[in-house]
Amino acid sequence: MLSIIEARRDGREHSAGELSFLAEAAAKGTVPDYQLAAWLMAAYLKPPSEQDTALLTTAMAETGDRIDLSGLPKPWVDKHSTGGVGDKTSLVVLPILAACGLTVVKMSGRGLGITGGTVDKLESIPGFRMDLTPQEMKAQAARIGIAITGQSPNLAPADKALYALRDATATTESIPLITSSILSKKIAGGAEFLSLDVKSGSGAFMKSFDQARELAVWLKAIGEQCGLKVHAAITDMDQPLGSAVGNVYEVLEAWSVLNCDELSPPVERFRTLCVNLCSQTLHFVGLADSEVRAAILVADCLASDAAKDKFREWFEAQGADCSFMERGEGAFASPRAVQDVLAEKDGYIGRLRADVVGETVVDLGGGRKRKEDPIDPLVAAFVHKMVGDEVQEGEKVMTVYAASDASANDATTRLAEAVEISRSVIQPNRLILEVI
Ligand code: URA
Repeated sequence: MLSIIEARRDGREHSAGELSFLAEAAAKGTVPDYQLAAWLMAAYLKPPSEQDTALLTTAMAETGDRIDLSGLPKPWVDKHSTGGVGDKTSLVVLPILAACGLTVVKMSGRGLGITGGTVDKLESIPGFRMDLTPQEMKAQAARIGIAITGQSPNLAPADKALYALRDATATTESIPLITSSILSKKIAGGAEFLSLDVKSGSGAFMKSFDQARELAVWLKAIGEQCGLKVHAAITDMDQPLGSAVGNVYEVLEAWSVLNCDELSPPVERFRTLCVNLCSQTLHFVGLADSEVRAAILVADCLASDAAKDKFREWFEAQGADCSFMERGEGAFASPRAVQDVLAEKDGYIGRLRADVVGETVVDLGGGRKRKEDPIDPLVAAFVHKMVGDEVQEGEKVMTVYAASDASANDATTRLAEAVEISRSVIQPNRLILEVI
């Protein structure tokens, strides 16, 4: 281990054997954490090459179970977002793709920090099981074309150990380390095609477009070296995505899109992103010979209720109480305290800081500060305006659902700071910034 740390410290290439040793040692706990932490810090300061990152990714994928999807109808696709505020895209994209004939198998994580996790959103629906075994997951995917589960403890266990150490040693924001972390789990999960949504902006891991682009380029290059077929879209996360930020309400919002309800402008923006990601993915896997034809397939799938029916079939298969599909918000306990955030002056929304909205929802109890914290699925912030919208003084910009009047007061004070109003017209960021 000492010579592996020295090689990294001095910026040299590793051998495949060294990287297998490192991954095995992390998975089995056979070298002390301080040596792994030293290697991680050295890797943060002297980033491993692309080739070393590919070798490390494969070695990490091999430290635990490998899910074998053979026997399921092809193409098999996994969709992954690097995480954002109000990002419930998977809940819309997966059933559309499954209804269009893809086999969608996905392992999801819990939210940590300001970005919400798909596991928490789905578990906020009573009965929804996120603990499918790999066998159950495969059987369900064979039956209905879609299955999702939480992270199996023995899938890429090296990542579990290294991720926890990165979190504790300020080495999370390293592009080679993020790349090997994400892709080792995807490879172990058996994916053939991987459709990535790399988020860029204040509400994302990667705050600037250049960082997000670099991560997307690495994910595609290393994924392909490891045998995955990778599509990556870089999308805007500088303002919250859609209207709802909060677990139950994000699932309801996803349902409203599939149910073809009348949508508010922020939810319409979210729908546009989902439809685009689906069209790109269908074209990428070869189910449509152009993106225009793919967009027609997606539109048909929504108009014919096929996507909505797939969503219901999926939720029923995983044990969810589906009464929210008929009853909407009425299927859940009423919010205990509701307060609005109002525009302080006339003008145009210049910024709606997704990071502040995400932090506020975490403080309300909708996310976690530590891994073991419980989640309150019923708290939320709703965004009614988007960057570039014209507003009048006193107009509603956001609404908070909180567990008490005191926490609603704190949240609205905080959210008022997330809103910047400009006197001059503002041009919002494009929703899809680049496709790699
Ligand atoms: N998601 C992961 O799985 N790993 C990282 O390092 C960052 C985001």
